[in-house]
Amino acid sequence: MNLLITGGAGFIGANLVLHWIRNHPDDLVINFDALTYAGNLENLQAVKTHPNYRFVLGDLRKPFEISKAFSAHNVDAVIHLAAESHVDRSIHGPADFIETNITGTFNLLETARKFWGAELSTHRFLHVSTDEVYGSLGSEGKFSESTAYAPNSPYSASKAASDHLVRAWHHTYKMNVVTTNCSNNYGPFQFPEKLLPLLINNCLQNLPIPVYGDGKNIRDWLFVEDHCEALDRVFHQGDSGEIYNIGGANEWSNIDIVRFVCKELDRELGRSGDESCETLINFVTDRPGHDRRYAIDAGKIEKALKWTPHYSFEQGLAKTIRWYLDHQDWVKNITSGAYQDYYERQYG
Ligand code: NAD
Ligand code: DAU
Repeated sequence: MNLLITGGAGFIGANLVLHWIRNHPDDLVINFDALTYAGNLENLQAVKTHPNYRFVLGDLRKPFEISKAFSAHNVDAVIHLAAESHVDRSIHGPADFIETNITGTFNLLETARKFWGAELSTHRFLHVSTDEVYGSLGSEGKFSESTAYAPNSPYSASKAASDHLVRAWHHTYKMNVVTTNCSNNYGPFQFPEKLLPLLINNCLQNLPIPVYGDGKNIRDWLFVEDHCEALDRVFHQGDSGEIYNIGGANEWSNIDIVRFVCKELDRELGRSGDESCETLINFVTDRPGHDRRYAIDAGKIEKALKWTPHYSFEQGLAKTIRWYLDHQDWVKNITSGAYQDYYERQYG
């Protein structure tokens, strides 16, 4: 099978490319990525020259670049991850989110529909989405696949729109689609604008750790390799037209997770007292429209596809911290240049 993975140079995409090459030796993986600030080919050093791997520099906003990749590699199936993914950026500049997440998904669906033609229903298209499309929860309850969509940020609205397009291409054209909506991922290769890598990086550099609002917003954290395994199951065994929620049953308030990671880092770095990472915690103005709580009911994928997370939070976090400690050059490279301007505007 010739599998096109979009966004394969990003955080989850790179983990998925590595997972696929390890686990599916008969498949050719074509990584289609525009290499925005979030895409980094260093993430794929391990497979760069692998016979089952190809990289295509391409932009979802340019339909011609997508169709060229389909023809050149005779694409059989798609896993679509490429997106603008950071909520704070979507608040400062929503246009890229509309163009890549909505128009880009439309361009990809249309290219696949034309390329696969009469055999459309036999070619799988997995659309990777987020739990943020469901909006915000109170202190009780969880998001299920039948929760009504109520996106609150430009990012989540653009992802919700892309989910609706994918749904429509299934109902109207009988395209063989599956959609996943996952909770917060953490692990190696995550860009240090997201909470956990930002906090690890700031501790290492003795910079303040910005905690938005009262720090009591809640997220459900999942180790990225568990997400990749879930995507693999949904791709191979999910029913066409179905949606699968993916989550870690691992809810933390932001301030609790920040304190927990600080403790782990203190242990790892031999810091305590006035030197403790916790002294860097800095409560700052809240994110506008900040969703209060996310929690996933993953009962459907657990029952239908026998998926459950393999990593405990302690195991996943230990692997993540170790990875960032061992890859400080990666962080330095990726946070230079264009990212530096953004960081300074955001955090001063
Ligand atoms: P990321 O920002 O780390 O990576 C996104 C990748 O997409 C980058 O490699 C970037 O270069 C590429 N890209 C962006 N615009 C593009 C364009 N126009 N054309 C081609 N490539 C482009 O994102 P991530 O955190 O790995 O998220 C991947 C997907 O998973 C996204 O669709 C996101 O909505 C979804 N998701 C993420 C999380 C999470 O916690 N990170 C959770 C649930 C769902
Ligand atoms: O839920 C899935 C989503 O998780 C994905 O769809 C998104 O692509 C991904 O970015 C992530 O979105 P969040 O907004 O939840 O992640 P982020 O790491 O930006 O923030 C996590 C929580 O921490 C959130 O409540 C905001 C808060 N936060 C974040 C940052 C960057 C802070 O308090 N301080 C910070 O500096």
